[in-house]
Amino acid sequence: MALERTFVLFKPDAVERRLCGRLLTRFEERGLKILGLKMLQVTKELSREHYAEHVNKAFYPLLEDFITAGPVVAMVIEGPGAVGVVRAMLGSTNGREAPPGTIRGDYGLSRQMNLVHGSDSVESASREIGIYFKPDELIDRETTLGGWVCASDEK
Ligand code: RTP
Ligand code: MG
Repeated sequence: MALERTFVLFKPDAVERRLCGRLLTRFEERGLKILGLKMLQVTKELSREHYAEHVNKAFYPLLEDFITAGPVVAMVIEGPGAVGVVRAMLGSTNGREAPPGTIRGDYGLSRQMNLVHGSDSVESASREIGIYFKPDELIDRETTLGGWVCASDEK
């Protein structure tokens, strides 16, 4: 299992519902490492770039209204298999179908307002990180805890 980076975004519903602290805690408690984090307002242009695969879908106008409706918190998270690990922590897109124990299953009831975005592949993560972060906004470093999160052959 390789060390991976993934892009995570707390969507406007998470910020407005003041859930950022407890959501961030879940990632930290899992042992994942935060390399970069910032609050920003997503513009229509940024939404179209981020959600390029969905721009021509019927639900896109509603998605754009939602994701631009208030500030978001963007972050880069690193860990072994981080892309899949984070997606599993989010649960299904629709909160009504996401199992309890997942973020969407514990906090959500909506298909659209599902609180957190996570990259769906290593390639998507790389693209999305490049959209939201400059290289010098990411702080790569060894942490003392790193050696206690997994064995050397798991990184
Ligand atoms: P995300 O990209 O935000 O992590 O979510 P996802 O992979 O689970 O879902 P995706 O299919 O990529 O959809 C992106 C976001 O668009 C909204 N959505 N609305 N009305 C609809 O049918 C619909 N389908 C998706 C959700 O906010 C979803 O997370
Ligand atoms: Mg997606």
